[in-house]
Amino acid sequence: MKVTLSLETTISSDVSIMVDALRASTTITLALNNFERIIPCLTPEEALRLKDKTGGILAGERNGEKIEGFDMGNSPKSVEESETLEKTLILTTTNGTRILESMNSQILVGSLINAKATGEVSAKIAKNHIDVVMAGVKGEFALEDFLASGEILYQICKNLKDCELNELAKAAIIASRDYNSLKSGFYNSRSGKHLAKIGYKDDVTCCCQKNINENVAIYTNRELKLFKD
Ligand code: MLT
Repeated sequence: MKVTLSLETTISSDVSIMVDALRASTTITLALNNFERIIPCLTPEEALRLKDKTGGILAGERNGEKIEGFDMGNSPKSVEESETLEKTLILTTTNGTRILESMNSQILVGSLINAKATGEVSAKIAKNHIDVVMAGVKGEFALEDFLASGEILYQICKNLKDCELNELAKAAIIASRDYNSLKSGFYNSRSGKHLAKIGYKDDVTCCCQKNINENVAIYTNRELKLFKD
């Protein structure tokens, strides 16, 4: 099985895993504890229009901050713990939702918190090529996505007999093996520092937990739902 790591654009037409570790992927993963479906949207305006049609809760950020008029920001914990009875979450984020829309293959959402489960599911459904796609930040490399991808790639290979890794994927696996330096990478990344500066350090702490959740979101018909066998 070919197993690769890419930035922003997938190179697989089989299975792609979108990784936006701080915070969209983590928020999506935890939101599935509470919501039946998540509809990602490119813009706040599109999200508002959609809410008029489908109902649901509006969540999202721009520059890390909650969007005015929205019910929630993009804090994984607050989305998971929201006490609403609504079953639809409409989500717009700067990078994560944009990357999802640009992919055409079977699409999963991976993060550090569900790396093990993502590794298992992707290895199960893939035929010949799994591409882990770092969302990055506005087209640029992001350290936290690289490190979370390393753990996901490590877990993918544990579930496969043969794993033909590209060089970037090998580097990410090596970089992610030491959990203490991985955590410090999350806090010291550009996004980690920005989130701490605007009051969301707890979100970074939440997002750098390893393998604590088994939800894996799959993106079909422009909706994210829990992958079920
Ligand atoms: C994104 O999609 O760009 C993010 O997850 C940003 C954030 O929540 O800080």
